[in-house]
Amino acid sequence: MKFIKKDFLWGGATAAVQFEGEYDKDGKSCSVLEMMPYMKLEKRDVMALGHSTLSKKNLERSFENKEGLHYPKRIGSNHYNRYKEDIDLLAEAKIDIYRMSIAWGRIYPNGDEAKPNEKGLEFYRNVLTYCKQKGLKVMATLSHYDTPYTIAQKHGGWMNKEVIDMFMKYAKTIFTEFGDLVDYWLPFNEINMALIFPMISATFPEDYPNVSFDQLRFQTLHNQLVAQAKVVQLGHEMLKKKNMGCMIANMTTYPIDCNPVNVIEWQKFDQQARYFLFDMVAKGEYPTYMIKMFEKLKVKLHTNEEEMNILKNNPVDFLTFSYYMTGVVGETTANKVGGNLLSMGKNPFLKANEWGWQIDPQGLRYTLNDLWDRYHLPLFISENGIGWDEKLNDQKTVEDDYRIDYMKEHFIAINDAIEDGVDVFGYTMWGVIDLVSNSSNEMSKRYGIIYVDYDDYHNGTGDRFKKKSFYWFKKFKETLEL
Ligand code: BG6
Repeated sequence: MKFIKKDFLWGGATAAVQFEGEYDKDGKSCSVLEMMPYMKLEKRDVMALGHSTLSKKNLERSFENKEGLHYPKRIGSNHYNRYKEDIDLLAEAKIDIYRMSIAWGRIYPNGDEAKPNEKGLEFYRNVLTYCKQKGLKVMATLSHYDTPYTIAQKHGGWMNKEVIDMFMKYAKTIFTEFGDLVDYWLPFNEINMALIFPMISATFPEDYPNVSFDQLRFQTLHNQLVAQAKVVQLGHEMLKKKNMGCMIANMTTYPIDCNPVNVIEWQKFDQQARYFLFDMVAKGEYPTYMIKMFEKLKVKLHTNEEEMNILKNNPVDFLTFSYYMTGVVGETTANKVGGNLLSMGKNPFLKANEWGWQIDPQGLRYTLNDLWDRYHLPLFISENGIGWDEKLNDQKTVEDDYRIDYMKEHFIAINDAIEDGVDVFGYTMWGVIDLVSNSSNEMSKRYGIIYVDYDDYHNGTGDRFKKKSFYWFKKFKETLEL
């Protein structure tokens, strides 16, 4: 079959903190995740991020790397030094759009400087200019899990409203410098993850001993949502384009069965884990079920009328989300499988990868229909893909047929959704060039169509090799044949 939409944007995605390396070069400061050492996982379906006690005390103990530990995100895939080669490969794969992120700590290392770091700006100017030369469109994320650690140290992270102003200064600099080089903007990656791990937003519970964890996580998220809306407003004013989105970690689930009691339980999960977030960026108002939940949890958001108006008046122009897997609500804890930051109920109808991520292309068709019906905003799938432990063979490639199957089935699901009438305009496969896993901090959880020769301890040359899926994707792009 031929893919139906000819102007659909096909691409690949990466994130600075997992890909660039050179974490302290040319004036950059360290971000929270760059302080997280590698831990060998006993079981693949656990998350290192959840298991490492992400406390300030623990992170600071190993800050200077005195203990001989390995910090994978400090090296990433060494894209900082290899960006031209990487962009050449993306162009060769016939990618239309590259989703990348800008590291806040390269531009304002402490967040509170009066002037940006010229060296950091120079790096991104080079990257973006080269993308344009190679004919790639760019989607840029301003904050992909890499709030500078100094913002935790000096300002208490995103709990502090001053951080909103620091972020706005950063966004203004980026729009001024690169407004004409970037096609689509995402202020935050998976903004809802602040609810599960406020620490990756540089908000550490130990700095707020008298604040409940619920108050901490919802306030951290609220401040980011205000910043998100303000960036949309600023972008519209400065760039005069309708190209502002926000990225949500989508967690599609199904009820365990058709018992109405279980359906209600599922509906509540779905509201809180999914609709709440999409509503906030698309409609700008807290849904009533969240207000009720705040009462129950004794959460009192510090906010005011001005913030609420900013939220209400600055919805996104398009919705984007990550989609890897689906889960079941109502399963016992024993019957849970991995997810990157949250475990989900097992579905007997689905197969999973080694990390327990359940493969569900039909769920993507369902999700696209669901979001389109509810919001009537153009949709973009900004992350999707399959992590696999891979080794180069003697021919210096990887026979990743499972990835080809995964892509093909998900592309068919997108095609079906378009046939259903959904307005979805693009797709960027996650970790198109292998990079360090966000949650498990491993290099060996590989997503790419391009292999990077590093192991979990960064032994290796760092050289790039094309996997079988690289050639499959390229051919698909040339023919649109599935
Ligand atoms: C998304 C993140 O949650 O999933 C990425 O935006 C991440 O940063 C990706 O890498 C895959 O998750 P993981 O944990 O397997 O790297």
